[in-house]
Amino acid sequence: MKHCIDIKDFTVDEINELIATAEDIIENPVKYAHTCNGKKMATLFYEPSTRTRLSFEAAMYELGGVVLGFSEAASSSVSKGESVADTVRTVACYADIIVMRHPKEGAPLVASMKAGIPVINAGDGGHNHPTQTLTDLLTIKREKGGFSGLTIGICGDLKFGRTVHSLINAMSRYPDVSFVLISPEELCIPDYVKEETLIPKNIPFIETTSLDDAMPYLDILYMTRVQRERFFNEADYLRLKDTYILTPDKLKNAKPDLSIMHPLPRVNEISVAVDDDPRACYFRQVRYGKFIRMALILRLLEISV
Ligand code: CP
Repeated sequence: MKHCIDIKDFTVDEINELIATAEDIIENPVKYAHTCNGKKMATLFYEPSTRTRLSFEAAMYELGGVVLGFSEAASSSVSKGESVADTVRTVACYADIIVMRHPKEGAPLVASMKAGIPVINAGDGGHNHPTQTLTDLLTIKREKGGFSGLTIGICGDLKFGRTVHSLINAMSRYPDVSFVLISPEELCIPDYVKEETLIPKNIPFIETTSLDDAMPYLDILYMTRVQRERFFNEADYLRLKDTYILTPDKLKNAKPDLSIMHPLPRVNEISVAVDDDPRACYFRQVRYGKFIRMALILRLLEISV
């Protein structure tokens, strides 16, 4: 049985197939409207979410299926101390596929070993967010036409930003990609990302604290939020949270075809004045998230169209 726990669960060919399906859904939505008739998806969200949960739910409804679940653990028997394993064994009696967000790293993996139905990781702690990465890849494909030869700047909280770790892993599997990793020293990319992905594959990367210096070289600027919920110390969060604020002025030296991405939610790191710049594609990115999740649901339920 196939699950989606880590972007590494998918080969490049499988990722390309998901992107191709998502693009076909965009072009031919009617063809997919009843493909999940009679199927149920459970969304088990132990942490807050807007985009991931609602895009999965919209995706399942658009495929003709239905959705059940909870959006906060407090409204379920988790609040009485029920384990992840018992929760998913219970939910598997009512649903065909589970989407889980959990603050503990590895919780969706545990769920996948106990559920007996496909499990999708919708974000586990500071670890992984594979469906955000699939969303990012579809966005890059739509905005840039492909993946090869791109210089990708990733800016902000590279330590706790779970979308960053998955994105680097995924993009490193395409030819001729390089990274500029822009962060305060305290929030730099973890060593394991460099040691497991960038260094063994000889992927060119530089680490810098200066967004201004990096800007002229970037094809993609992927901004991230400083992850307040992962900090142990509020004072450190307050000191670091506004290190980078993207404004129209900061974009003066950017390429005319730069793509500005952000997994959202944003706090202060992109000024709303940037939203009207045609290079800002973070709300298009939100929209693409629904289509790639539709493709993923079909793949994991082994439904061919
Ligand atoms: N990008 C993302 O995961 O957003 P939500 O936290 O709103 O789901």
